Amino acid sequence: MKYSFEKGFLWGAATSATQIEGAAFEGGKGKNIWDHWYEIEPNRFYNQVGPTKASNFYVTYKEDIQRMKEIGFNSYRTSISWSRLIPDGNGAVNEEAVAFYQSLIDELINQNIEPIIGLYHFDMPFAMQEIGGWESREVVEAYSRFARICFELFGDRVKKWATHNEPIVPVEGGYLYQFHYPCVVDMKRAVQVAYNTMISSAMAIREFRKVKVENGQIGIVINLTPSYPRDAQNQDDVKAANIADLLFNRSFLDPSIKGTYPEELISLIKENNLLPVTNPEDYTLMKENTVDFLGVNYYSPRRIKAKEAAVDPSKPIMPESFFDNYDMPGKKMNIYRGWEIYEKALYDIAINLRDNYGNIPWYVSENGMGVQDEERFLDENGIVQDDYRIEFISEHLKWLHKGISEGSNCFGYHLWTFMDNWSWLNAYKNRYGFYRVDLNNHFERTIKKSGLWFKQVAESNELVI
Ligand code: NOJ
Repeated sequence: MKYSFEKGFLWGAATSATQIEGAAFEGGKGKNIWDHWYEIEPNRFYNQVGPTKASNFYVTYKEDIQRMKEIGFNSYRTSISWSRLIPDGNGAVNEEAVAFYQSLIDELINQNIEPIIGLYHFDMPFAMQEIGGWESREVVEAYSRFARICFELFGDRVKKWATHNEPIVPVEGGYLYQFHYPCVVDMKRAVQVAYNTMISSAMAIREFRKVKVENGQIGIVINLTPSYPRDAQNQDDVKAANIADLLFNRSFLDPSIKGTYPEELISLIKENNLLPVTNPEDYTLMKENTVDFLGVNYYSPRRIKAKEAAVDPSKPIMPESFFDNYDMPGKKMNIYRGWEIYEKALYDIAINLRDNYGNIPWYVSENGMGVQDEERFLDENGIVQDDYRIEFISEHLKWLHKGISEGSNCFGYHLWTFMDNWSWLNAYKNRYGFYRVDLNNHFERTIKKSGLWFKQVAESNELVI
């Protein structure tokens, strides 16, 4: 079978500044929350590997861009580190950072690789966290200034921007489940952080429109976890799945694309005394500053059933107060990582965006397969034989292709990720790249079988299976 994609379809991969650059304390960079957390609690990080040991891209970016070219990329996403560009988050601009990002962007463009640049990818400058992080309006304002500076500095060459990456993750990690700093467990504060993040996104978009980036488009990258009820005929299961969808997907999707929150979500938040502090002008700000395009990160679905036991009213409220997770028998698994694989969800996302979000232009900004101990798949020539990744991508592309053929407005597919990189508390536990990175040999990169395979798909615009 042959699946053809349109000419100009974007092929590439995503990364983020903190996960690849390294040079955490070089080039005038300020400290961010990850540098700080690693300093005070290194044991939290897998094998005690911290952000100082990200994949050295700060030094090797030119060769790495060459490697991207070699496997057919015509586009690539990374982020600008806020604490590299503005070390204390809200003060002077670091000229060494300007030179670095300028050179990186030029290099991509010279190789005909379109840069897609993200502004916030989990890396709050530590000085900003000290004054409240996303809970603080002052920080929201500082972020908006950072965004404007980026548009002014790089908007002449970067035409696709993303305000945030996976905005729910700092909420879940930082304020509910303790896998991001500041490691708080508090649903009310979590709601405030989610809300302020959306306000900051609208403010960045307002700045973008003011700066008038010629032919520029601004979007947001949201991780979608389509929620499927255990039993589609059971109203309680359906209701529970709908709540999960409201909390985890629509609380970001709707304000970003429609400029408002769903009524049902507002009622749920109100009934549970979780309403955030707002400013009178927020409503108009959100309404007037919606995105031009959407990036969708998709990894796994959510399987939901109605709550089986009554909620203990003395316990603090959490998202799971409203539904139970359901372990679906016979689900397909990524056995090397422990996540469910459900390719059809990508088609469901495509159709949902077509039918309920005005058929907004969108692309798969991340999809990918993490594998623990991937060295076990090295062959005698030192090439990782990752046929499982090739199959994973192919199956997702098939469903994506079906969504596109039925009219969904998808313009690209990016893998997470270009080369194995540092992944927050998990460090290098799960490998995701088209290139292997050898931590024991100066971060040496070696192409994997999937990288060679992807080159054909990207260069021909065709998946053949
Ligand atoms: C989501 C994030 O954007 C990225 O930072 C993370 O490392 C990958 N997915 C893999 O979990």
